[in-house]
Amino acid sequence: MTFSELIKARRSVRGYRPDPVPREVIEEIISVAKWAPSSMNTQPWHVHVVTGEPLDNIRRGNTENMLAGVPPKREFPMRESYEGIHRKRQVEVAVQLFDAMGIAREDTERRTDWVMRGFRQFDAPVSLVLTYDKYLEPAAISQFDLGAFSHAIVLAAWERGLGCVINGQGIMQSHVVRTHAQIPDDQVIMICIAMGYPDDSFVANDVKSRREDNKNFVRYVGFDD
Ligand SMILES: Cc1cc2nc3c(=O)[nH]c(=O)nc-3n(C[C@H](O)[C@H](O)[C@H](O)COP(=O)(O)O)c2cc1C
Repeated sequence: MTFSELIKARRSVRGYRPDPVPREVIEEIISVAKWAPSSMNTQPWHVHVVTGEPLDNIRRGNTENMLAGVPPKREFPMRESYEGIHRKRQVEVAVQLFDAMGIAREDTERRTDWVMRGFRQFDAPVSLVLTYDKYLEPAAISQFDLGAFSHAIVLAAWERGLGCVINGQGIMQSHVVRTHAQIPDDQVIMICIAMGYPDDSFVANDVKSRREDNKNFVRYVGFDD
């Protein structure tokens, strides 16, 4: 697969086989992804690879907190809602996913079930929790670096037949993750990446999200044509 084929073929995976992911494979993926660029080569990331009982405890804690109506507790500021074109794109991909799953607009039970799956990190066998050192705050540039690293991880995983979904839902109750993954106090939890072998019978895994036409977000300045 060329790089262009790889980056276009990757999709977020939200249905996994229960098979464990060998530690050596995860190690190899991280060894590839760490070649992502970072500001002044700071490589400001830490990766906490979580599976088994600690991950089950995180899923349980996330679910209990969300059901109890505990407001999101992330460790960095973030808007809770999108507007305009961003909201439109958010809805568009949600409609694609619900259509694929046959979840009707008015079926609140199945819609809630879908959201709760997200808080369980889609029952993936592994979750990679990405953090950075707290002293870097305000850490916008380091957060940018973790974004580049995350993309490299999901691409390296896809190249090896593994699926991922980068997900904010998994760290929405960060204190739960911090406790069960034993994250040191001097690190900030940024994001997590659910990883596992895709369940090919899970139809949402086939959803291909759309991308904007370049002309709507690219400007060329100083070109002759
Ligand atoms: C920072 C970030 C957070 C995300 N959080 C979630 C999430 O909480 N739940 C989810 O189902 N998908 C989540 N996603 C996946 C996006 O919905 C997905 O990347 C987007 O719809 C494009 O689809 P694709 O990954 O299949 O190309 C997240 C992606 C990123 C980059």
